[in-house]
Amino acid sequence: MTTAIVTGCSRPTGFGQLISKTLARAGFDVFSTMRNAERGEDLAKWGFQEGLSLTVLEHDVTQPVQNRRVIEKAVQATNRLDVVVNNVGMSSFGALEALHNDHLRHVMETNFFAAVDLTRAALPVMRSQGGGRILFVTSMAGATGIPGESIYCASKFALEGLAEALAMETARFGISVSTIRPAFFNTGMSAHNTDASGFFERGTVYDAFNERVVSSTSEGELSGEDPQLVADTVLEAATASEPKLRYYPGEGAPQIQQARSSMSDEEWRGYVMNELGMSDWLQQQRLER
Ligand SMILES: NC(=O)c1ccc[n+]([C@@H]2O[C@H](COP(=O)([O-])OP(=O)(O)OC[C@H]3O[C@@H](n4cnc5c(N)ncnc54)[C@H](OP(=O)(O)O)[C@@H]3O)[C@@H](O)[C@H]2O)c1
Repeated sequence: MTTAIVTGCSRPTGFGQLISKTLARAGFDVFSTMRNAERGEDLAKWGFQEGLSLTVLEHDVTQPVQNRRVIEKAVQATNRLDVVVNNVGMSSFGALEALHNDHLRHVMETNFFAAVDLTRAALPVMRSQGGGRILFVTSMAGATGIPGESIYCASKFALEGLAEALAMETARFGISVSTIRPAFFNTGMSAHNTDASGFFERGTVYDAFNERVVSSTSEGELSGEDPQLVADTVLEAATASEPKLRYYPGEGAPQIQQARSSMSDEEWRGYVMNELGMSDWLQQQRLER
């Protein structure tokens, strides 16, 4: 058996639970973590009924003590730690100028520093057992900027850069590092955040823009691909004999990656604004100036 920790498993439609189930079905001892363990009761029940090894643990990834406790529990129970799936993430919407300062920091803490801390806590265990895999669920927002999601993009770009560098540091210890870069998947993540009142200030020049961003991102996710594709990709990264640095699940992510690499920065900017239906907003702002 191999042991995997998966973070951010609170929601039945989210990647975390699907990844947990997929890894458990593949024979992993899975530790599914979430801030409120009561929300994992159905998941734990499912694992028990299926006769699989799936344990739910309470875990706020922004708490370093809890990151270490979760690793200790997994290692105590199974004597191993083979895979860590850094899946936790929060959405962010709003033009940078209008974002609340505490929101900026909250996003970076949740999406970036928490994964850094959990990874740093896992590395000594993996090193001493002679190998392991660190996976980060990033986003295509970690490959290209999206207007109105600058801090979310910054957090995902940061993870991408970290992962690329870390992979070279840890290869000699048999520890691989991979990122999974989803585009739009129907997990309901952004729909949960349509009340973005805590994110940005209202009554600014960005109001119409911010509303457009919130609705277009939520719509994109609602009409997005099947989240199981992401779970299957995580399984691939967790089990491949030669894991890749980057994985592009489904159809949207490879298409975006291909389009981005075929365009200049200037062409890409026009393309993105058009795709998001923001060209008219840009035009209107120019006229109002
Ligand atoms: N859905 C997409 O289209 C898409 C696209 C690209 C990338 N992603 C990435 O995929 C990952 C999973 O997202 P999802 O779409 O599956 O949505 P999700 O179900 O909302 O997943 C986010 C998870 O993170 C948890 N979380 C937030 N802050 C936490 C903290 N401090 N400690 C522990 N858990 C915390 C949430 O728990 P609570 O319920 O307690 O808040 C939730 O379980 C995220 O990293 C996201 O950025 C998603």
